[in-house]
Amino acid sequence: MLNIVLFGPPGAGKGTQSGLIIEKYGLIHLSTGDILRSEIANGTQLGLEAKRLMDEGLLVPDAVVVGMIATKIEANPGAKGFIFDGFPRTIAQAQALDEMLQEKGTGIACMVSLVVPEDELRKRLLLRGQETGRSDDNEETITRRIKEYLDKTTPVAGYYESKGKLHSIKGVGSVNEIFDGICEVLNAQGGA
Ligand code: AP5
Ligand code: MG
Repeated sequence: MLNIVLFGPPGAGKGTQSGLIIEKYGLIHLSTGDILRSEIANGTQLGLEAKRLMDEGLLVPDAVVVGMIATKIEANPGAKGFIFDGFPRTIAQAQALDEMLQEKGTGIACMVSLVVPEDELRKRLLLRGQETGRSDDNEETITRRIKEYLDKTTPVAGYYESKGKLHSIKGVGSVNEIFDGICEVLNAQGGA
């Protein structure tokens, strides 16, 4: 299996690049943000509870997202591999993911981290907020999301770096240029 963590701050391009990666490499895309938004759209209890935190720009509890990911992994027994987008966001989530994959006799091949300066992130997210109305793409919530990322999520990069699995890529430029950089990393993992 080829299991990849696509990492980066809010607006780094994780969702955009995941779309290209799954098409080229035949992997399954697991975005905890997308799963939570579909729970909200379906009006579930989980969605109701998550929406309050998401609209504030705060992380949803580890147990909730770990449970969602476990369910999705179980639901795809024949997968060639998974691309994890927006997960893991805490060290506890990273450890839980390692345990889940170990049980399946597999693991994370690498983390690709998209590096984008904060002013560019804000510009992208405000633009998307205007275009799509995504409820957490507003000035105040963007600031909270970036703070949560810096406080709680950046240590996750260190977790993978200590295992020699971190690959940082410049996340500014055209979508295709950035994708080429990601492909170089994935091909070196035997993804081609
Ligand atoms: P989530 O949905 O994961 O949001 P996020 O991390 O804030 O990231 P985004 O989805 O906003 O950005 P992205 O990196 O995917 O970029 P995209 O490709 O869309 O999480 C939302 C919330 O859910 C969290 O705040 C939290 O509450 C909760 N949550 C989710 N996962 C969790 C977890 N594991 N634990 C706890 N809580 C969790 O691009 C952004 C924009 O930029 C788009 O408009 C795109 O078109 C544009 N763009 C992309 N690439 C480029 C480029 N190269 N140049 C110019 N524009 C570009
Ligand atoms: Mg996303």
